[in-house]
Amino acid sequence: MTVQPRKSRQVHLARHPRGTPQAQDFSIVEATLPPAAPNEALVRNRWFRISPSVRLMASADAQHIKGIPFPPLMPGDTLADAAVGEVIEAPADGSLRRGDLVLHRYGWRDYALVPADSYLRLDDTPLDPAAWLGHGWTAYAALTRGLQIHAGDTVLVTSGAGAIGSMAGQIARRLGAGRVIGSTGSHDKAAWMQAELGYDAVLIRGSTPIAEQLAAAAPDGIDVCVDMVGGEQLQAAVAAAREGARFVLLGALTAELAAERATMIAPVELDSFRLIVKGVSLRGYSADSDPGAFAEWLQRLTEWSRDGGMVLPRSTFVGLDSAPQALHEACAGRLKGVVLVELP
Ligand SMILES: NC(=O)c1ccc[n+]([C@@H]2O[C@H](COP(=O)([O-])OP(=O)(O)OC[C@H]3O[C@@H](n4cnc5c(N)ncnc54)[C@H](OP(=O)(O)O)[C@@H]3O)[C@@H](O)[C@H]2O)c1
Repeated sequence: MTVQPRKSRQVHLARHPRGTPQAQDFSIVEATLPPAAPNEALVRNRWFRISPSVRLMASADAQHIKGIPFPPLMPGDTLADAAVGEVIEAPADGSLRRGDLVLHRYGWRDYALVPADSYLRLDDTPLDPAAWLGHGWTAYAALTRGLQIHAGDTVLVTSGAGAIGSMAGQIARRLGAGRVIGSTGSHDKAAWMQAELGYDAVLIRGSTPIAEQLAAAAPDGIDVCVDMVGGEQLQAAVAAAREGARFVLLGALTAELAAERATMIAPVELDSFRLIVKGVSLRGYSADSDPGAFAEWLQRLTEWSRDGGMVLPRSTFVGLDSAPQALHEACAGRLKGVVLVELP
């Protein structure tokens, strides 16, 4: 007979963070789980993702932000994000077996009760959590559905070392891009991006004006921009846009990770004549609108990994207690690729 663990260790929001989230803004709480309902699986999480967007979700203002794409967090709430876990107790309908791996959205805890309509059963290949929990699929969806890459395009990926960006540069290259340029916050990361991710050039925010750096890195301008940052970087990208350039806007980290306060308001001054004269298209895009891209991405990843050269960058922390620190470091810009917490 299965002995069901009744306790789940979970990370709660203790108070709304001021500025970059600190470990003291969170508490680790032991909660008693009720018995699984007939349509629920009891899952032991093995990895979960840490996303910088938690900072906005956890902010005191979040509940007043219209159109916020995720539920605002209040003190006492359990945090949540994508997770991969092992089924300990399967629902009675027989679609899952004990030991199966599932992808679901109840991370930030060791054990979770997961309703049948909110998990995806995973094959055990590839057994790499960064393939499932990383944002390769988001980057792939943006570069295949949000816009089309043409052979030889010069591509700019802002926040090019981040969860989405570290994959977008590599995928753009595989889809035919010529020159691939990224942006980041430090010289160390820039060197890593060129050595490991294959960027041809990297712009560094907070040093000289981005427009000048971009002009040096792409003297003939850019054809494609995958923008995660907004602000000065988007402005510089528009100023460098070539005839028929295509932009896919995925995030605005300049507002989401602004030093003083996370916000969803990201105004930027753009040269509208340049957009008109050059026939530039700017598209806001959410990968959630193309869920079918996930399975297609896993297939492409398998093919591309066989050829070699495709890397799945991640920063891994071990143990539930490390999760608040992982969030702190992710928001402070100290990490590379997707940020994962492993629960051994
Ligand atoms: N549209 C979609 O489908 C979709 C899906 C998921 C997420 N998103 C959004 O896309 C964006 C990127 O998500 P992600 O998970 O890949 O995040 P990410 O790029 O991994 O974000 C963390 C990185 O942001 C950079 N950063 C920190 N402070 C910054 C600032 N003030 N200005 C600019 N960059 C700063 C740092 O990198 P460096 O030190 O390297 O600069 C940091 O490591 C977010 O806005 C997220 O909400 C969109």
